[in-house]
Amino acid sequence: MAQPVKFYLVTDTHFRPNSMCENNEAYREYMQYEQMCLAENEAILKATFTEIAKDKETNIVIIPGDLSKDGEKQSHIELLKYLDALRQTGKKIYVITARHDFNSNATAFINGGRYPVEGTTKEELYDLYYEYGYSDAVAKHEGSMSYVAQIAPGIRMLALDSDGEPDGKDKGSVNGDILRWAQQQITDAKNSGNSMFAICHYPIVPSSPFFELVRDARLENRDEVISALADNGVNLAFTGHMHIQSANVVKTEKGNEFWDICTSALVGSPATYRKVEFDGSTADIRTIKVPAFDWDMEGLTNDEYFDRQFEYRIKNRLKRTLSGKKGFKGIIFALLKHIVNTLTLGGVARLAFVRIDKSLKKVKFLDFACAIAINMFKGDAPFVEGTPEYEAVAKVVKRFSFIIKKVEPKLSKTKQLDLKQMIFDSIGNNKGFSDNNLTITLK
Ligand SMILES: [Fe+2]
Ligand SMILES: [Fe+2]
Repeated sequence: MAQPVKFYLVTDTHFRPNSMCENNEAYREYMQYEQMCLAENEAILKATFTEIAKDKETNIVIIPGDLSKDGEKQSHIELLKYLDALRQTGKKIYVITARHDFNSNATAFINGGRYPVEGTTKEELYDLYYEYGYSDAVAKHEGSMSYVAQIAPGIRMLALDSDGEPDGKDKGSVNGDILRWAQQQITDAKNSGNSMFAICHYPIVPSSPFFELVRDARLENRDEVISALADNGVNLAFTGHMHIQSANVVKTEKGNEFWDICTSALVGSPATYRKVEFDGSTADIRTIKVPAFDWDMEGLTNDEYFDRQFEYRIKNRLKRTLSGKKGFKGIIFALLKHIVNTLTLGGVARLAFVRIDKSLKKVKFLDFACAIAINMFKGDAPFVEGTPEYEAVAKVVKRFSFIIKKVEPKLSKTKQLDLKQMIFDSIGNNKGFSDNNLTITLK
């Protein structure tokens, strides 16, 4: 067992300087469909890094990808100024890149509209972030941004590139070549008496049960990656990408556990980062909310402010999905839109012929759906058995179980799914451990 190492895990900073987020019409239009707070981005980063700099006992910061908003060169240059300043306070910073870090069609909100700006190629990222993991790496993979860092005596970090090629090939997977190299690195770490954990931008284990169904929500070849890591003694990974707080554990066929700790985007609800203490066999993981930042919060708390943006996005997306259809489809969608906007949970209960708790009857269906989604991204979703919300959902699910039974086989393409359980596990944390604050023992 190594001496414990402490580090901060900050991810999906999606940095774009305030000067490139002009509050113009194009920006406001864009923000209707954006979960993250963009113009606020720089103020949030500044406040968070100030807070991290104050902690003199924790001198490592790890950022697993989506460093810039969408690969704008200027965003990287400006972010690097903040990274350099944090480094000056004595912090060692390690990054891995992701798909939002390179882009040949970058844009920004400037000069009264949304205009093209210089993008970044994947090759340029190595030089840009050379001081942030690559300059003193123990090993680097040729042809990707993967590397191994000796972050403390006896502890190494395996940074896995899941970006794929710029043309989209291998996007969201750790390709065979990287994986073979990684296995060699795991053996080297073991032979030299080091414990190892991994970072990867894409979640390796789906962060939420429904993400099993979403192609871009987890590594394409996760089974292969999980056994390559866990069966060789790397049982813990820190991930990002889905902008969600979650902790999940799976077991390989050989019986080895693999933990995936996914952390939210720094700049979107729930706007959190983590502090971790790791000694090779146990990991203590705590969640920290971004501190107050220099912005007109319109009288709202941080949580209210971030949640408001998330809810705004969910509602606008739904509105857009249900609008603009023509003919018969248009009539049906307009009806659906009306129902979604006016229906209360009492109304749903009446339609399903079930009784629900009095306290829920006047709650708007749409607000309830938003709350479920936002809670899910915060981790530790609260509607567990015994709550009125769980009971209401359970009754409606039971009533419509004939539909679920029909849909289930169609969705169970690669894996047998239990849709009912997936619904319950999405509205309430039934895992027996917290998504946000937990101590895990690696087996
Ligand atoms: Fe992201
Ligand atoms: Fe991402």
